[in-house]
Amino acid sequence: MSFTVAIDGPAAAGKGTISKAVAERFGLAHLDTGLLYRATGARVLDGLKPLAAAETLQADDLKRDDLRTGDVARAASQVAAIPEVRAALVAFQRAFAQRQGGAVLDGRDIGTVICPEAAVKLYVTASDNVRADRRYREMKASGMDVTPESVLADLRERDARDSVRVAAPMKPAEDAVVLDTSLMSIDDAVARAVAIIQAAMG
Ligand code: CDP
Ligand code: CDP
Repeated sequence: MSFTVAIDGPAAAGKGTISKAVAERFGLAHLDTGLLYRATGARVLDGLKPLAAAETLQADDLKRDDLRTGDVARAASQVAAIPEVRAALVAFQRAFAQRQGGAVLDGRDIGTVICPEAAVKLYVTASDNVRADRRYREMKASGMDVTPESVLADLRERDARDSVRVAAPMKPAEDAVVLDTSLMSIDDAVARAVAIIQAAMG
């Protein structure tokens, strides 16, 4: 059985940053599953129907330059509430998790639905204000036209939609370790995650 690390949590909590760092540290492959939903959402904004957009997703779609915009994030969270869209994306994620050599997957439902047998499950979170501030700085730095207020409102709207949906709602798995990074630097958060993974490796 392959070694899988599941990292879930709300928007801009630090999932991707921690996932990348621990994947590198332990030589594991990394999949940002949010990209699958963002790419599906972007294709719906292009005019495709949600299910067709998910079923015909190609590797190149995950490399589009517009995946980090607010509009695409919103569209991602809208298509992510459709059970058939989620079902169309399951096989790819599970196959990735089964890679020889192990894998880190980050998203919303990795520990609960995609990899319930993962060796390590982390639920990374932080206060709304901290997360919105991090995302605002990130978007601003890449030249996007956003305000702190609009980013906070978008993030709250998306978190609310992600947590109330019936299909694979965002929530910590029962056996997840919750990591609140509100007061942690990136290095602190990564060190904590590394220690948890190391303990699980035995
Ligand atoms: O993947 P997710 O949306 O959960 O978050 P991310 O993209 O890893 O992190 C969002 C932003 O917060 C990035 O710009 C990180 O550099 C920053 N960050 C931070 O300032 N402090 C942390 N402890 C973790 C992330
Ligand atoms: O980076 P950030 O945390 O802001 O978002 P993301 O991880 O790129 O995910 C974008 C959207 O995709 C989320 O708001 C969810 O609606 C959806 N998503 C999901 O439903 N399940 C996943 N495993 C990953 C993302």
